[in-house]
Amino acid sequence: MRVAAFLSGSKGGTGKTTLCTLTAIELSRRSLDVLIIDLGESGNATSLLTRGVEPPYFTDYLAGKAQWGDTIVEVREHLYLAPTPPDFSLAEAKVLLGSNAAALERYSEFLAVMADYVDVVYLDFPAFPFKSYGHLLSPVDTSVLVINPDPLSFAAALHTYTGSSYVLPVLNKYHPAASYWRDTVEDSFNNVVIIPFDVTLSFLVKESIFEAERYLESDTRKALAELAEKLARPGGKRVQPYKAPLQH
Ligand SMILES: Nc1ncnc2c1ncn2[C@@H]1O[C@H](COP(=O)(O)OP(=O)(O)OP(=O)(O)O)[C@@H](O)[C@H]1O
Ligand SMILES: [Mg+2]
Repeated sequence: MRVAAFLSGSKGGTGKTTLCTLTAIELSRRSLDVLIIDLGESGNATSLLTRGVEPPYFTDYLAGKAQWGDTIVEVREHLYLAPTPPDFSLAEAKVLLGSNAAALERYSEFLAVMADYVDVVYLDFPAFPFKSYGHLLSPVDTSVLVINPDPLSFAAALHTYTGSSYVLPVLNKYHPAASYWRDTVEDSFNNVVIIPFDVTLSFLVKESIFEAERYLESDTRKALAELAEKLARPGGKRVQPYKAPLQH
């Protein structure tokens, strides 16, 4: 089982949920079993992939209030979702995901069980203005750092904690006029995956993710397929953190 986390540090709205859901859909079409764990605030993978989910939610399982089996949703064939409630706030995320030992134990147990069920797990993180999510990264093979071509997003990426996972920097919403950022990201991380700015994605709302796919530019489609491919196959050695580890 491969585990990837979609991160952007403190900068929100870079496209984590968009890339997470679109590449998950792509892999499910290739008959890989994919599970997205929505760790985000309201409006993340759960709202993009469903029109709403009845409780209990995955966050209830983490809080010890539900069995995990009652919380997982089959979105479509080969695509599963561990949902959060629509009003899940960053404050709640911080309490539940921050330094809650019991929740962490449940999270680890859940991932151990998932290894028998799915091929790929994606963690859709919110933008975290704090670093205490670090322990959630221990099972993560690849941290997908979703960066936009702007200084704030780039600075946030440089300060994003990625543990000992392999770091895959993705420059999302790219336009050739922003080639400076492509070079800057590549120089800093020795790697860059480019996903173009796509007008269809800029209109993305929850009702339209499956619909929107049909309108994607061919370059976007190709770039998403390549990203999905990278995340599904083993490869890329783990790297040491390129900055100081978490201070608790
Ligand atoms: N390649 C793209 N081209 C154009 N628009 C995009 C692209 N990728 C994402 N978007 C748009 O950017 C906005 C933010 O995307 P998204 O919600 O996926 O970001 P996020 O990083 O998950 O945000 P948050 O930090 O709030 O969880 C959305 O309106 C989305 O449709
Ligand atoms: Mg999101």
